[in-house]
Amino acid sequence: MKMNHHYSELKESYLFVEINRRVTEYQKAHPGCDIIRMGIGDVTRPLAKSVVEAMTAAVQEMGTTEGFHGYGPEQGYDFLRQAIQSYYAGRGVQLEASEIFVSDGAKSDLANILGLFDADNTVLVPDPVYPTYVDDNITDGRKVIYAPTSRENDFLAMPDPAVHADIIYICSPNNPTGAAYDRAQLKQWVDYALANDAVILYDAAYECFVSEEGLARSIFEVEGARRCAIEICSFSKIAGFTGTRCGYTVVPHQLQREGLELNKLWLRRQTTKFNGVPYIVQRGAAAIFTPEGMAEIQANLDYYRRNAKVLAQALDQAGIWYCGGHNSPYIWMRCPGGMDSWTFFGWLLEKANVVGTPGVGFGPCGEGYFRLTAFGDAEKTKEAARRIQEAVRSLEG
Ligand code: MLT
Repeated sequence: MKMNHHYSELKESYLFVEINRRVTEYQKAHPGCDIIRMGIGDVTRPLAKSVVEAMTAAVQEMGTTEGFHGYGPEQGYDFLRQAIQSYYAGRGVQLEASEIFVSDGAKSDLANILGLFDADNTVLVPDPVYPTYVDDNITDGRKVIYAPTSRENDFLAMPDPAVHADIIYICSPNNPTGAAYDRAQLKQWVDYALANDAVILYDAAYECFVSEEGLARSIFEVEGARRCAIEICSFSKIAGFTGTRCGYTVVPHQLQREGLELNKLWLRRQTTKFNGVPYIVQRGAAAIFTPEGMAEIQANLDYYRRNAKVLAQALDQAGIWYCGGHNSPYIWMRCPGGMDSWTFFGWLLEKANVVGTPGVGFGPCGEGYFRLTAFGDAEKTKEAARRIQEAVRSLEG
């Protein structure tokens, strides 16, 4: 028996598991303390009314002989693929329904898509970024190189012609920094990918938070992207599907490498290894794209945007540098008092009973930073903002 020893190259536990472990330990030592969790970016608003109604109707349908659905198409039901196609068309991006693959969320597809590529490819990952990109490639034995970001480059990595990569990750708006590319910047990445015969894996999980003109919501807004990019998206953040599990991946027909059409490979992979997302869930997801569904989810997104403002104001008043919160549900703040990320995590938990995410958990360039999520309950967010402000002031005294 030979095991995959690449697992031993990973950190002992996944970032959010480690946070939970430390919080649980703290809670055990301090029973009764009122902890506010602003760590993992999990949503709190309930599913939209239209989504619930569509799911309820689908459940009723499934309980009838005529309306029962067994195995569905692995790549998703046409009604949902067409709804996603129209969503893109509404923003001027033309996709074929056969380029859209419905999934159980971005996290699975971000890992599974790597099965199309040999282990002998070099992977370029921005630093800091969503940690699964690195872990997914380490366990496959791929070489990972980093594109460092900082305040100096607005946390937006740009291509370096001297560096060669075969697979490039882009997350825009970025998790954790909230930095988002405009179309001209993305065009530079597309040109770089085409010149290097590389493939961009574009994580658009936070596209719904983009509100500034000129920023891209899809890489397919950029000319040439259909020949070098795969877009992976999720209904988790746009419509509160973190527990319901549904997303999609777009693999354009023009994307070909070594004479192989990646869309065909992905279809082959999905039909073999995936049995599709439940009919009931896909009916709920399709309801997001109705006019009523869209209005309801926008109200939820506005709720999170208000939370982001509350956090931003508190940091402004406390004189702490931060970015994000405008085109993103995350606030990326500098740790006060020169603390490193995990020291600040422990200090804030102790002083304010507030949990956030240490920036270094997203990569070495995140050291000295800290991420707060705006996905929480509004009253708890206000209270957390007050406590953070008060704790930081105590440092000055
Ligand atoms: C995060 O907090 O970074 C995300 O919620 C994690 C995820 O989407 O899996």
